[in-house]
Parts: sequence; C-alpha cells; structure tokens
Amino acid sequence: MRNRVEWRDASLIESRRVAEDVRYLEFEVEGGAPRFDPGSHSSIRVEIEGESAIRTYTVIPAPAGRIAMAVKLHPQSRGGSRFMWSLAPGQAVRLTLPENRFELNWRAGQYLLLAGGIGITPIYGMAKALVARGATLRLVYTARSRARLAFADELIALLGDRCDLYDSSEGGHIDLASEFAALPADAECYLCGPIGMLEAAKVAWAAADRPMSRLRYEVFGDSGLHPERPFTVEVLNGDVSVAVRPDQTLLDALLGAGVEMIYDCQRGECGLCTVRVLDRDAEIDHRDVFLSPEEKAENRRMCACVSRLTEGRALIDIGLRR
Ligand code: FES
Repeated sequence: MRNRVEWRDASLIESRRVAEDVRYLEFEVEGGAPRFDPGSHSSIRVEIEGESAIRTYTVIPAPAGRIAMAVKLHPQSRGGSRFMWSLAPGQAVRLTLPENRFELNWRAGQYLLLAGGIGITPIYGMAKALVARGATLRLVYTARSRARLAFADELIALLGDRCDLYDSSEGGHIDLASEFAALPADAECYLCGPIGMLEAAKVAWAAADRPMSRLRYEVFGDSGLHPERPFTVEVLNGDVSVAVRPDQTLLDALLGAGVEMIYDCQRGECGLCTVRVLDRDAEIDHRDVFLSPEEKAENRRMCACVSRLTEGRALIDIGLRR
C-alpha cells in the first residue's frame, strides 16, 4: 500500500477493445511504475466538457513499469469513460501511481473470485496473481451478454474448468449458496460487482455461517438499483436549490453550485461526503458501502458521491449554520 498519492506524466501506448463495452488502455509512465498488487487503483486526470476532473480505475496486469486499465464505456457516462475511450496512442495524460484499497490476503486456504460486469477488473488481476502462486481458486463471472465478458478467452485459457462464465441475458447466474457451500472453512471470497450482487452475496455468506471478514469486496459506485434520473436538492440554511443531472453525482452538482463539501474517495467508501436527508418525496438509491443496511433502511443519510434520489426533490443538511 502506498501512503501518498504520487502523480506522474504518462502516455498511452495501446488501446484495444476487450469486450463490446470495455477498452484496455496501457500507459507508459515517466520514470516507470512500481510493481503493484492486484486490486490496486490509479487516478487519472480527464477532460469533461473542457473542465479537468479526476477518475479512478482499477489497474490490471501490465508489462513491467507500465500501468494498464480496463475502462467500461458507460451509457450514462458523466464524461470520464468517454474521455478514456477517446484517447489515442501517444496522447499524454497525468495519472497517479497505483495504491491498493482492495487487498488480497495471500494466506487463505482457498479462493472464490466473483465478478459482475466491469467488476472483473480487480478479479482478473487477482486470478492471474493467484495462479502464479499456485493457489487453489475458482472464478465465477457474469455479464449481461457474452460479448460483454471482458478477458473471457484469456480467463478460460488461464483457469480451464476452474472458471465459469455466465451470460445473464440467457438466464445464467451465480448460485451463491452452492458456491459458498462448496468452500472449506479457511476459504475467502473476493467479489467485485454491482451493489445488488454484493448485497445478495452478503446475505448468502451470512446464511452459510461464514465470518464476514472472509468476504472481501468492492463495488462500483454507479451501480444502483434504479436508473439515473434528474432530481433536486435544497440545502438547509444554504438558500440554494441544486438540480442534479442524470450524468452527474449529487456531490459534483453541489460542488458545481459552489457548495463547500468534504469528501475523499468518491467511491462510496469513506463516508466523508455523507449528508443528512431531512425530507424527500422519492426513494434514495443507496450506492455506497459505507452506511450499514440498517442506516440505509432508515434513509436519514446518504453518500453524496455515489447515492442519488430516484427522482423528485429532497431537503438535505450538510451542517451549514445561519
Ligand atoms: S467521498 Fe468517500 S464516500 Fe463519498
């Protein structure tokens, strides 16, 4: 784990599709990139409508000294993935050296790797690293069509019958209960996928009477239970009403309206951007992993960086005093 963020100049070396909606991007980094563990992330400066912004992506196995990412083009892209897809070989970027927030414990007796959609990015790196160490593992990966299963051929070649790939449009799905039942007591499960997949896995893991510390996960922040629609928030004591577009987070909309916010991860993990919800006329689509299920059910707080209202308006309190 790196303790501080270190920005470097880099240039794109290679860009190619690895699935219908996923592009592999490989960067040469000035001074070279250090070796990094699977599950690591780098941030990259992107341009969205002429403005500079930062997006964070999982880094995946790359030739020594380089950094590679697999980026999904999001239909509701706020502009980050569109920018990444538009990069041409030779183009200069600024990015951070990888740091790890989703660490693999090398001492587990067996590993079950679960991926949903673009959640394959850390899982792909973990699978390669575990195979290289001779670990016992199984990988199960689901996407919304065969064409969206990134790295499918490579994973099959790497793992053979130790992996199952499912196309959910044909009814394929991960049978969590039987996957967990087949694991020995000292096994660990690593999951990366949408929030609904994580919640189902947590329930099945608990039902299998397994310690939560052995279920390790990461979710992607744009994976809500509802589609993105516009909504509006009024800020208590702020005399401001902020419209949030479908392609924008609540945090971005508040910052854009000049509201001072405290935040860090922008991935629904640290909880720093949490706002109190005093009144609302629509559901909250909680997309974070910071609040507990009980707190989410109470709907008194939400993480502004990833969670949103399904529509309508809400009155929020960010601690402003008159
Ligand atoms: S900034 Fe970390 S949860 Fe929102």
